[in-house]
Amino acid sequence: MKAILLAGGKGTRLRPLTVHTPKPIVPIFDRAFLYYQIDLLRQIPEIDEVILSLNYQPRRIEEIFGAGEELGIKLRYVVEPAPLGTAGAVKYAGKDLEDSVVVFNGDVLTQVNLAAVLELHRARRARATIVLTPVENPSAYGLVETDADLNVVNFREKPRPDEIACNTINAGIYVLESDTFDRIPKETTWSIERSYFPSLVQRKETFVAYIYPGYWIDIGTPAKYLQVHRDIMDGRFAAPPFAGVAHLTWVAPDARIEAGAVLEAPCFVDQGVVVKAGARIGPYTVLGRHCYVEDDASVGSSIIWANSRIGRDASINGAIVGRNCLVGRSATLAPGAVLGDKSVITDYSRT
Ligand code: GDD
Ligand code: MG
Repeated sequence: MKAILLAGGKGTRLRPLTVHTPKPIVPIFDRAFLYYQIDLLRQIPEIDEVILSLNYQPRRIEEIFGAGEELGIKLRYVVEPAPLGTAGAVKYAGKDLEDSVVVFNGDVLTQVNLAAVLELHRARRARATIVLTPVENPSAYGLVETDADLNVVNFREKPRPDEIACNTINAGIYVLESDTFDRIPKETTWSIERSYFPSLVQRKETFVAYIYPGYWIDIGTPAKYLQVHRDIMDGRFAAPPFAGVAHLTWVAPDARIEAGAVLEAPCFVDQGVVVKAGARIGPYTVLGRHCYVEDDASVGSSIIWANSRIGRDASINGAIVGRNCLVGRSATLAPGAVLGDKSVITDYSRT
């Protein structure tokens, strides 16, 4: 069985982080996001190939994962000539597929039991099965209404407030029968959410829901990106190095923490980092490879990507700093600040 990972979006809501780093390889601690999704797909031994459906900076992604040798699962890359939308991309990537296909949005992190989803799909002889998750505000998602037998009776993408009749949304994980792809026009922009799913409902085909109340997040915004790291450090989502040991102060063996520097748990300090005397690394901070934090700087609740330098006495709280940035001496980054790669913040600046 094949899985298609939809990873062709531009990641506009994560800009400027995604200007040089496509969303599927945005790092979560020291691993590209896609690794976490592939970990989940590997739960199903039946899945023998993952097709990555891409169009934005595909080569960057291919460089990291290759044919999947290190992952223990075969990877194939399908690059659309132009973005075809979620259904167009499935049709394009799934040209030669037969039987059931697992389709996954490339930006969701979850611990859903995929084997159970597949079992439900088969038991109900469904044409499509969709994972739903309850959220407080469905307006940014696809709202999905079901009947008492968990048949999908309404699918409304990005509902208006007056259209919100329940709290279950599309979690971006589906099992689809590939012979249903014939209703998707070839090489045309087409949406799974706006056209394909509503067509299943309209034609009264067997379209069932699997409700998953456990951990689920779409990492598509800076706030959610920070939240994923918090959730892993707090143990709400089990992933290394915090799986089983939440609230850890994790420091790579070759990082250099000078005497007089303070590290407060939970935090993650990657390879080659230097933290100078008097600096404070507060809880929920991630310092990427080879970051350099000068004397008396303070960094808390922030994610700093690789090779960035934080100047003496600088103060960063609740921010995200891209790769190769320079935050100058005594500069202050306010909560919510997001710096793209190679940003330079002049000494004494305030945001
Ligand atoms: N190959 C390809 N081509 N992939 C695409 C394209 C395209 O043209 N457009 C979007 N994608 C990929 C994105 O990279 C992402 O992984 C996934 O499809 C979903 O697109 P988003 O842009 O992230 O959509 P969203 O978050 O607003 O909404 C979707 O996800 C929600 C759950 O997170 C919808 O599926 C909602 O119904 C759902 O609730
Ligand atoms: Mg998304």
